[in-house]
Amino acid sequence: MQGPVGVGKTALAKRFGEHIQKDGEKRGVNTSYIHVNLNYCPGSFQVMQEILRGSASGGLKERGLKAEEMLRVLADLLEKERRQLFIALDEVDTYIAEGREEKVLYQLSRIHERSHEVNPRFNIHLILIYRDESWLRRLEETTRQTLFGFAVSLEQYQLVQLREILKYRASEAFQPNTISDEVVGFVADLAEKNGGVRYGLELMTGAGYIANSRSASKIIPEYVRITHDNIPKGTAYGLFDLTVLSIHKQLIVRAIYQRLSRLGEPYLSLKDAYEDYRVRCEAQNVVSDSVKAFKSNLESLSKEGFILLKEETGTVHIGSEHSSEKVAATIEKNLKGCHRPRI
Ligand SMILES: Nc1ncnc2c1ncn2[C@@H]1O[C@H](COP(=O)(O)OP(=O)(O)OP(=O)(O)O)[C@@H](O)[C@H]1O
Ligand SMILES: [Mg+2]
Repeated sequence: MQGPVGVGKTALAKRFGEHIQKDGEKRGVNTSYIHVNLNYCPGSFQVMQEILRGSASGGLKERGLKAEEMLRVLADLLEKERRQLFIALDEVDTYIAEGREEKVLYQLSRIHERSHEVNPRFNIHLILIYRDESWLRRLEETTRQTLFGFAVSLEQYQLVQLREILKYRASEAFQPNTISDEVVGFVADLAEKNGGVRYGLELMTGAGYIANSRSASKIIPEYVRITHDNIPKGTAYGLFDLTVLSIHKQLIVRAIYQRLSRLGEPYLSLKDAYEDYRVRCEAQNVVSDSVKAFKSNLESLSKEGFILLKEETGTVHIGSEHSSEKVAATIEKNLKGCHRPRI
């Protein structure tokens, strides 16, 4: 499933997952769906851990097992239960682009070969979710060949669709008559220019908080404008939203902003930024990248508008055009979202 940022790929895959499970119940076929965000999986081990945790209802003892052993456990479980397992691997493009282990894709797509039966009574169906196709070129030929299938391509929402979606979301979130169609239309206009539905939801949430804090029963355009002014923008994705970034890029951005907020100078050095990034990696139990990979991530973050990067007489300077105070709230929110227990 392919499509640009924020067009509803994740939402659609999850909805499909609900549908396929219900459909399985109706037909008497044991069917289940697991959604794995590869952004938070540093390697095959964590991918398999997420899958095993999601597929064993009673909880399996995956502790101490290697990725390959977990695959064996999974195959045995699916065979025993004659189960059709749908696995959505979300953000597979970032996972591969950062050079993390691709063999898990190959192994999962050929898991039926592990069956003791001639005609296996189970299978795994992979749904690969990505923004653009370039990651496929990075795969080894053997892996790529196992990943044949058909593609669903999602397009950017048009203004009328944005209005409809935001109206629906507002009806779910607010008391009746809190927000008029005109104000939702205004939110959709701003959302269209700033990255789509996600931006619109952010605007409505912020405007809702303002209304709440002023004990107002209606959301007026001014609340939307105030929220709009306060959202850091200027990134390739519209919103300053760390969840669209890979785990390493998130850790880099957090390290940089934290240091910049304490620093009395506009830029920090490559050495300091790398040092702070490594500390962050350690705290999250993630193996840190080499300086070379770190620099390449910095360049990409600069192109995407999350940081400023300049090189003068061979020295790298890292800064930001956004105030740390403004981005602090989104960083905090993303931190909560990606918290994982230590392994
Ligand atoms: N058709 C829709 N109806 C209701 N909400 C939607 C719809 N499409 C998208 N959204 C909402 O918009 C936001 C972005 O959608 P989603 O996270 O699925 O996008 P995505 O394509 O996976 O983005 P990314 O590339 O950043 O992962 C979510 O909050 C989602 O609930
Ligand atoms: Mg997504």
